Amino acid sequence: MSSEEFVKVRNVRVPGQTYTIRGWVYRKRIHGGATFIVLRDETGILQCVHHPKLNPQVKIPENLGIESSVVITGQAKEDRRAPSGIELEVTGFQLIGPSHMFPITKDQSVEVLLDNRHLWLRSRKLTQIMQIKAEVLRAAREWFYDHGFTETFPPILVGSACEGGATLFSLKYFDRMAYLSQSAQLYLEALIFSLGDVYSVTPSFRAEKSRTVRHLTEYWHIEAESPFKGLDEIMQVEENLFSHICNTIAEKMPDTVKALGRNPDYLADIKPPFKRITYEEAVNIVHEHGIDMEFGTDFGAPAERALSNHFDKPFFIYRYPEKIKPFYVKRDPDYPGFVLSADLMAPEGYGEMTTGGAREEDLDSIIERIKAEGFDPEDYEWYLDLRRYGSVPHAGFGLGAERLVWWLLKLDHIRDACAFPRVLNRVTP
Ligand code: 4AD
Ligand code: MG
Repeated sequence: MSSEEFVKVRNVRVPGQTYTIRGWVYRKRIHGGATFIVLRDETGILQCVHHPKLNPQVKIPENLGIESSVVITGQAKEDRRAPSGIELEVTGFQLIGPSHMFPITKDQSVEVLLDNRHLWLRSRKLTQIMQIKAEVLRAAREWFYDHGFTETFPPILVGSACEGGATLFSLKYFDRMAYLSQSAQLYLEALIFSLGDVYSVTPSFRAEKSRTVRHLTEYWHIEAESPFKGLDEIMQVEENLFSHICNTIAEKMPDTVKALGRNPDYLADIKPPFKRITYEEAVNIVHEHGIDMEFGTDFGAPAERALSNHFDKPFFIYRYPEKIKPFYVKRDPDYPGFVLSADLMAPEGYGEMTTGGAREEDLDSIIERIKAEGFDPEDYEWYLDLRRYGSVPHAGFGLGAERLVWWLLKLDHIRDACAFPRVLNRVTP
């Protein structure tokens, strides 16, 4: 049989027509002499029924197990009880790969499901999340392409930190130390001088030592950098990109979004401009919610959740205190002690989606702040050159792809936005 003769579950639509489908046994039961098989492929599930009296030539093994791979031929029948309104009357059956005692049964613990992630990926929920994630990244690339940004490919093995030492993964690189990239930012800053507006989609690594529902140790980072932009302009890039992704998901995959528990109309309604509040206003909101926090410190998890819950649409927090931001952040000339940095926050308790802002241009200040973070300016010589040779004002940001999917689909835990999540206590499967 050539592959053109096979159809996907989604395309089984016309009553009376005969279809042949390749897929996996999602559920099976025998009832009143008939065998009911729910067949699964990447496009959906379909109920197939075999009545031995009608089609005695078809032999379905009695011990056919869940997740066996099969080829089923049958005639489509209208059935109002079936989710798709169609049921297949089986006229042909072929077993491709048997499956006995599939390890995942009903009501398994989270740990068992994570140990069997390579198999649990076949669940409808994870399948649909992975399809949304693919579309999120496609839509992001589409937006960048449509707005003249060039895709670039920064390194993952790096010689210096971007986001501070606390979350740095180090490794032996022949006879010296190297690190896994926390952010492509410093490299994107180098690339704007030849390519103009640039972006990258790379894995980023953070040695996050706490267990939370929002932290991974490996995640996909969507980052952009633009010459001749300041804080306001980069916030506009962020809200336009973010809205485009939300709107595209709502438009292209409304049924999947709905199946996962989010109303697509809400995502279709996300439009720029987003509300902007200062760090100071944000601290006041946190205090109004009765949460203790000192002015000048970073938001802890409860403060971030309260802030996020305060809004029902994405919003920005900007003008942070200098001392809680990394060495490369540009100081606000009008507000000493504060910087031109902004975080894009999701509502509904999810919190930070991006961090971005304008980059410091003053060479001496950068050197001084690299030292203050406990690093050796020697390791940043190449980066400092960017301020020595034709420096320009510039700005950029980073968006965590899994953070976005986590909020878009209102997932309980960020790990479900990953096929193979990497967290504090897990690097397998
Ligand atoms: O806020 P971060 O640390 O900012 C940077 O890395 C900048 N250098 C980006 C830039 O300007 N190019 O990380 C950016 C985003 C966060 O807002 C969050 O969405 C995501 O990356 N992120 C994580 N996602 C999952 N797990 C983690 N441990 C994450 N840490 C950051
Ligand atoms: Mg941040």
